[in-house]
Amino acid sequence: MLIKGERTYLGPMDGKAWNSLYQAHLDPEFDCLVNVDIYPMTIEEVVGLYSRFTNPNTGRCFQIFDNRDQPIGFIGLCEIDWKNRNAEFHIGIWDKSKRNNGHGKEATGILIEYSFKQLNLHRLYSVAFLDNGIAKKLFLSMKFTQEAVLKDVFYIDGRYRHGVLFSLINKRHYKTKE
Ligand SMILES: CC(C)(COP(=O)(O)OP(=O)(O)OC[C@H]1O[C@@H](n2cnc3c(N)ncnc32)[C@H](O)[C@@H]1OP(=O)(O)O)[C@@H](O)C(=O)NCCC(=O)NCCS
Repeated sequence: MLIKGERTYLGPMDGKAWNSLYQAHLDPEFDCLVNVDIYPMTIEEVVGLYSRFTNPNTGRCFQIFDNRDQPIGFIGLCEIDWKNRNAEFHIGIWDKSKRNNGHGKEATGILIEYSFKQLNLHRLYSVAFLDNGIAKKLFLSMKFTQEAVLKDVFYIDGRYRHGVLFSLINKRHYKTKE
């Protein structure tokens, strides 16, 4: 099954998708931006790393396609807390030529609708690097709230970096859409 938007749609993570994600993780910048430990990973290790997204008890994992049916990225939820109805949101457009083209926003919008209307989640949250201006723009334009600056929360390349916690509450999302 596919979850369709206008110019972007979400499909399952098939074998090819794992290979694309593996290729993306060969770029240390991508490792860093999606906040994983930076070391040379095998494809099996990449698949293992994403098990918190692929285990249906704790996550959801999708491949992002553009309107030419090209796979361009990954989007998903992890740490789903079914009692409190919270989940952590992640996105990465691994095809750099397809960034800044609206796909991130549209894919995020699709996952928000799916999270609230299908999974009945209440709150989505994500932590981005404080200096990841594009992620910040993405979250703010999708009506996430900047909740807090998390000091020294990431340790990368020999230094600590600050993060920003963004969240989106179900009711607030639908109120701002009305
Ligand atoms: C962050 C990311 C998912 C955004 O997806 P995208 O498809 O590139 O972004 P979109 O085209 O949907 O644009 C989202 C917002 O960022 C802005 N933006 C995107 N690229 C930009 C750029 N290079 N310079 C300035 N602004 C940019 C857009 O204008 C838009 O803001 P607006 O609605 O206020 O106009 C994508 O760039 C990516 O995968 N980056 C690397 C991984 C990463 O940082 N993941 C997030 C970790 S929390």
